[in-house]
Amino acid sequence: MTAKIIDGVAIGKELRGEIKEGVSILEASGCKPGLAVILVGEDPASQTYVKNKEKSSVEAGMKSELIRLPATVTEKELLSHVDQLNKDETIHGILVQLPLPKHINEDLVIQAIDPRKDVDGFHPQSVGKMMIGQETFLPCTPHGIMEMLNRTGVEIAGKHAVIIGRSNIVGKPMGQLLLQKDATVTYCHSRTKDLPSFTKQADILIVAIGRAKFVTDEHIKDGAIVIDVGMNRDENGKLCGDVDFEKAKTVASAITPVPGGVGPMTITMLLKNTLQSAEMACK
Ligand code: GUN
Repeated sequence: MTAKIIDGVAIGKELRGEIKEGVSILEASGCKPGLAVILVGEDPASQTYVKNKEKSSVEAGMKSELIRLPATVTEKELLSHVDQLNKDETIHGILVQLPLPKHINEDLVIQAIDPRKDVDGFHPQSVGKMMIGQETFLPCTPHGIMEMLNRTGVEIAGKHAVIIGRSNIVGKPMGQLLLQKDATVTYCHSRTKDLPSFTKQADILIVAIGRAKFVTDEHIKDGAIVIDVGMNRDENGKLCGDVDFEKAKTVASAITPVPGGVGPMTITMLLKNTLQSAEMACK
């Protein structure tokens, strides 16, 4: 079997077209959606992510505000920036790029964001609402994966979804969203014993562990759908996922590539959440 490629660039583009249309309708009514991103320090990966977020929001027709703060910024100063953005009526989405320097309490900063502007979906109120299936901002990566599965026509109800990874940003919410669509969900992680015995049962396998090419054909059931959330460098410095794509595509029925799979969907969902927030604020 050679797997069908699930093209995150194409799906993201389609969705961004819809978002752009929503933005211009809202702007015509006098309300331009605005996204503010706070970047603390000089971490190269964070700088790249933030640049992409800024570029994409401008392309969608949104107002974009980037606040760069030095790694030495105090927690109090950072909280005061968040507070100002909470009060700014031209800003509908606030994102504080993680990770933050060690001297700053990340939980405290996330909790300081007005839940109505929590377009990352990281605030405990957003997480709680998601857990009980209430409408709220959903975290962008798992939300993007659900959108991808939906737009690829993947049936979820009754399927066995196995997730490798249990982070608050990806693994945990991913399982919840799949459960809400009636999948049977299994979580695996670094302490799971005999990982292939679980992953081999997956109809849908989500891999979010941060280890280059860790998952091979030996982990995958014939015909499974494989979603690769990883973003790593291989031994030659080339971008690669957590899945060994060349091996996996021989057994999977569909698979996301890296780059060009989950990545473009994550930013797209950030724009979607920002548009949704502006729509609610400007009603
Ligand atoms: N760092 C890595 N991914 C993310 C994300 O989705 N949101 C934020 N705020 N920081 C991140």
